[in-house]
Amino acid sequence: MAEQNKSLYESAFDNNKKWIAEKKSTNKDFFKHLAEGQNPEFLYIGCSDSRATAEDLMGAGPGQVFVHRNIANVVGGADLNTLSVIEYAVGHLQVKHVVVCGHYYCGGVKAAMQAQDLGILNPWLRYIRDVYRIHRKELDAIADEEQRYRRLVELNVEEQCINVIKTAVLQKSFIKKGTPTVHGWVFDVRTGELIDLKIDFEQKLKNIREIYDLGAGV
Ligand code: CO
Repeated sequence: MAEQNKSLYESAFDNNKKWIAEKKSTNKDFFKHLAEGQNPEFLYIGCSDSRATAEDLMGAGPGQVFVHRNIANVVGGADLNTLSVIEYAVGHLQVKHVVVCGHYYCGGVKAAMQAQDLGILNPWLRYIRDVYRIHRKELDAIADEEQRYRRLVELNVEEQCINVIKTAVLQKSFIKKGTPTVHGWVFDVRTGELIDLKIDFEQKLKNIREIYDLGAGV
């Protein structure tokens, strides 16, 4: 078939037409409902890596997840992009959960493990180098490089969850309404499996508030 020889770029609009037909065949008002607004259950902060898709890997459809992706799923303290997404998702859309999802074999994490000047990527990767510094004792004790790499992916997720918890909008919402809760996940590119790191959100929040309390007066 000629279509199979087409690149995704060339077939994107044809695929879109098929997708519309497929959605309408199961629910003729599908797009009418979509146009009415969004009420996503959670915010997903993941990596831009083309293999670590957001909705697809968890079976979510349009309208169900508010998504933000960047290199190595970083939540930077002065990154207006990510912080605006959190502000809007938590403060306005009132999502019930915030998920930070990393993935094994993350190129951003790998790059941060190497002593190399990567130009404009340096300040971004520094967030991950900082994670390494915070957990240096544990990481340096892992002799196997691949295991160390996997562990840094997990610790990066955990630290980015903590960065989410540092935000005023999260703290104020949780103190007032008991939501959202924050979760750390890892996607294993090799097996397709989604793993819940089971971070203790309430304990992390408690620890954070001793230093980063922005919820006073709520
Ligand atoms: Co990645």
